[in-house]
Amino acid sequence: MLLGLVLAAGCAQSAAKRAEPSRARGAGGRTGDPTPSASASAEPDPATTPAAHENHIVPQPDEPEPPPEEEPPAPPPARVDCSVRKCVALTFDDGPGAYTGRLLDQLRAARVHATFFLLGQNVAGHRDLVRRMVQEGHEVGNHSWSHPDLTTLPSWEVRAQVRRTQQAVHDVTGVAPVLFRPPYGAVDERVADAVDMPLILWSVDTLDWLHRDVRRNITAGVREPRRGGIVLFHDIHRPTVAAVPSVLEGLRERGFTFVTVSELFGGRRLVPGRRYAER
Ligand code: NI
Repeated sequence: MLLGLVLAAGCAQSAAKRAEPSRARGAGGRTGDPTPSASASAEPDPATTPAAHENHIVPQPDEPEPPPEEEPPAPPPARVDCSVRKCVALTFDDGPGAYTGRLLDQLRAARVHATFFLLGQNVAGHRDLVRRMVQEGHEVGNHSWSHPDLTTLPSWEVRAQVRRTQQAVHDVTGVAPVLFRPPYGAVDERVADAVDMPLILWSVDTLDWLHRDVRRNITAGVREPRRGGIVLFHDIHRPTVAAVPSVLEGLRERGFTFVTVSELFGGRRLVPGRRYAER
């Protein structure tokens, strides 16, 4: 189902149930976790320094121009027909990180494919994990370079956040992501335009980054998904990864088939700049 409606589209389904804090940009209670920004400061992005911003300095071409952007390749053919099966797409954001290897082991053992929305700045330190994701049938999506609220950045910085991550993933795997998840779910029309990729939000926010509690993760992860849903987790948190085997078991008992986000949409070509929170 298309969701081009509201800024906070990603939590539209779950918000009613759980009075989740605002996901709106600039709101004090915006979601997300501190880890991405912490690691962002460890590796400053020249394109996002305050100085560059204040002085309106044109970004220096200190990296080679990526090959011209062509129309993204069509998603791989769906192995599962989600118009027939009861599908759910599990997504893991902000990695790869310290627990991602264990998560990949768990997914492989359960023969489940998931979608990883990676931060570009984390790719170089985890090349093997990123390659493994692709080799083992998971989908790799772009979650920006350093997890800024894109609505606060000039458009050229938004484009740089997207492009650097596309390049980092392509350098390691040979394939570039076709899906983008905006940090904090924060998008407006200008950002949507600058990103120029389908914007994947979610229908279930497990709030794993907030509670960091295995039992809560299991409960939310098993009970809340509905047919065609997209579930938001973060593989940078140990309690999330610890919960995954039970979440998989519980969702299987509910009759779900696990698919990647592209599979969820059945090979249909998603529209750049449009928001999708569920099938
Ligand atoms: Ni994130």
